Amino acid sequence: MKKETFTGKIAVIAATAGAAIGLGNIWSFPYKAGSNGGGWFVILYIFFAFAIGLPLIISEFIIGRNGRDGALCAFENIEKSQEQKPIKTYTILGGWLPVISSFIVISFYCVVAGWALGYFFIGIFKGFGDYTATNSGQNFSDLINNSFTSTALQFSFIIMTLLVLLLGVKNGIEKIAKIAMPILLVIILVLLGYALTTGSFGEALSFLFKPKSTFNGEKLNFIEVAVAALSQAFFSLSIGLAAIITYGNYTSKDENISKISLSVVIADTLVAILAGLVIFPIIFANNIDPSAGAGTAFISLPIAFNNMGSVAGRIIGTLFFLLLVLAAITSSISVLENCVTAINGKFKLGRKKTAIFVTIGGMLLGLLCQYAFGIGLPFEIVGQTELLDQLDEFTRNVTIPIAALTTTIFVGYRVKKKIISSELNNERLTRLFIPYIRYVIPVFVGVIFIFGLINLF
Ligand code: PHE
Repeated sequence: MKKETFTGKIAVIAATAGAAIGLGNIWSFPYKAGSNGGGWFVILYIFFAFAIGLPLIISEFIIGRNGRDGALCAFENIEKSQEQKPIKTYTILGGWLPVISSFIVISFYCVVAGWALGYFFIGIFKGFGDYTATNSGQNFSDLINNSFTSTALQFSFIIMTLLVLLLGVKNGIEKIAKIAMPILLVIILVLLGYALTTGSFGEALSFLFKPKSTFNGEKLNFIEVAVAALSQAFFSLSIGLAAIITYGNYTSKDENISKISLSVVIADTLVAILAGLVIFPIIFANNIDPSAGAGTAFISLPIAFNNMGSVAGRIIGTLFFLLLVLAAITSSISVLENCVTAINGKFKLGRKKTAIFVTIGGMLLGLLCQYAFGIGLPFEIVGQTELLDQLDEFTRNVTIPIAALTTTIFVGYRVKKKIISSELNNERLTRLFIPYIRYVIPVFVGVIFIFGLINLF
């Protein structure tokens, strides 16, 4: 069977931007910016996205377009095509590690996306009238601790993802991305219009972009902020989970991957910043703490939606959660697709069967994440209160940087210059790209990775 490819440039951009723009932009970017004091975090984030993220996305595209059959085979396929004896470490750290991490990510991603789906339904059927400063937190924990509801939401989300996958690359992934991305942009602009009327837009701008040396009365820990900014940029750009390698598999040789990658980085960064410019004016106008952490979207914002009055709050709130759901679905599709392509490419079980297996596995691990929040028996087995957070931290700080490092080293030192220059199709760019990917990126990523590890333990 001939392999499916995306139909053209717009399709590759929509699908890849869809993979990149997700909960990372709308849920975690604003709360990470908030808990890291804005300013420096945002500036470093933008710098890392372009200076490190962009060349890494290009590198993943190079591997994907030349490698075929998903991340578990891509490295060896390239080595064999260059008549090199495969070095297993590349496949293990650049293929297996990201694919296993993707499996972990899909499980907790669908839990959070399930919450967004739940809040979207609350917006539609009930409104945010019950979300006051005293009980919004309790309402959120009631939702996530109600095993029936939260499991139903998580399962619905992952099954929606599976259904899109089963429709295939052109009729599923590409179509959904082409529909969801423009709607997402319209919603975010409508919400931005509202944010401009809150009277706190200036405060939000200065919080996000003005570098400050102190935060909450303490001196800013610059290293911690840099580590958080880099890991956020990687996660948000879908780097280090082999997602772009997989979409590279489906990208035809006619496309210009450096231009496509640049468009994706611009779109992803823009949406993260726009999400910040939507959320922070609402937060400041309602005197809510900007450093509230992961609960910002699900606890703080509903209070603000309630304060807006029943009709306006309901419309704005429902639109906001629809935005989260749309962003999440195109990302979860890419994570699941990447597991499926890789496992099917390696073990040839058939795409449909593999997709169903991976989905069931993701559901089970997702259940563990949910129940590890403190209810039921599995909590005692795991012995952790917030497995979801820990899996998130672990992939962000450990597996993603290792995979990113492996990617740069592979493209920088192992892939022949001939391939790189035919991929980039621009001599000057190739002459800049190779030394940059060999010497600059590994040092940056390596240093921040080590600091990240020190911070983690
Ligand atoms: N980039 C996505 C987000 O910002 C998450 C993601 C990571 C998707 C890795 C695919 C691969 O939410």
